[in-house]
Amino acid sequence: HDDVVVLGIETSCDDTAAAVVRSDGEILSQVVSSQADLLAKYGGVAPKMAEEAHSQVIDKVVQEALDKAYMTEKDLTAVAVTIGPGLSLCLRVGVQKARRIAGGFNLPIIGVHHMEAHALVARLIEKDLQFPFMALLISGGHNLLILARDLGQYIQLGTTIDDAIGEAYDKTAKWLGLDLRRSGGPAIEKLAMEGNAESVKFSIPMKQHKDCNFSYAGLKTQVRLAIESKKIDAKIPITSASKEDRLSRADIAASFQRTAVLHLEERCDRAIQWALKMEPSIRHLVVSGGVASNQYVRARLDMVAKKNGLQLLCPPPQLCTDNGVMIAWTGIEHFRMGRYDPPPPAEEPEDFV
Ligand code: KG4
Ligand code: ZN
Repeated sequence: HDDVVVLGIETSCDDTAAAVVRSDGEILSQVVSSQADLLAKYGGVAPKMAEEAHSQVIDKVVQEALDKAYMTEKDLTAVAVTIGPGLSLCLRVGVQKARRIAGGFNLPIIGVHHMEAHALVARLIEKDLQFPFMALLISGGHNLLILARDLGQYIQLGTTIDDAIGEAYDKTAKWLGLDLRRSGGPAIEKLAMEGNAESVKFSIPMKQHKDCNFSYAGLKTQVRLAIESKKIDAKIPITSASKEDRLSRADIAASFQRTAVLHLEERCDRAIQWALKMEPSIRHLVVSGGVASNQYVRARLDMVAKKNGLQLLCPPPQLCTDNGVMIAWTGIEHFRMGRYDPPPPAEEPEDFV
């Protein structure tokens, strides 16, 4: 199995992504087509619209990934595709494409769990990362604390009881009148640098619950109320705000970010202590998912890791946000263990999946 080459396809949310990865960890190509413009125009993901956008670009994105890797479908060992979690209409676009290729070229197919891929991509970056390890997965739709004991053996130590942290970043950005052509997270991260994180007092969610679950709905409400009380008008874009108005928006961004991340720190610290009781040999904390591309988040979680004697591992930002590389790599990990499905029939009706 020395040179396994896998095409990975990801369409679970608003990005259409594909990549070709080799089993020695070499990324042969990666392509992402983002729906950022659509998102900015409509202020969120509408499933039907996102599905159409995926359908329009999927063939081109996959072809580009193959071309950039100097390959054709015949050079592939297998095809990996995200099968969930995500918007089912969108997932279908990727799965149909994967099955068409696998069927047409007689290739095995590997269904990949999106969140497992966010965690496992760290093993592509860091060859030294062995099981068991801890993972904090923070994205737009999910907040998970996981003890990864082995491939396919994950113990969930915590999850969100309402919203994920990325959702809170995105809403805060929207209410602060930030430019939504970029996603909300990076915009808040940047604005927060101008603000005072002590200026608005937000309370840390679920302090009284001594577990590892998350909640961001309450913090969202606190942010909305603060924005209302400071009379910030999101219809005035931040670029046209007065200096004073801009500063007050930056203060809210900074205070929100600090509280949102304190909640991560507290839960993560506890989860590591639980996990070390079960698996004293854990050496790494993996932090991945879109929000893990945030430098402040990384710095704070680095302290949590060190305090507990662990090393922090974060994939580079473009591998933290949704991408095809993590799907291809997770496909490789499963393929190597013999976990894959046989090629689908060559001629399958379009609406089979
Ligand atoms: O993993 P991801 O690309 O998609 C999902 O699986 O949801 O995560 C997207 C989320 C969005 O909420 C986005 O605002 C957030 O990750 N994000 C960030 C940053 N970059 C992306 N949040 C905070 N700071 C960032 N620099
Ligand atoms: Zn994701």
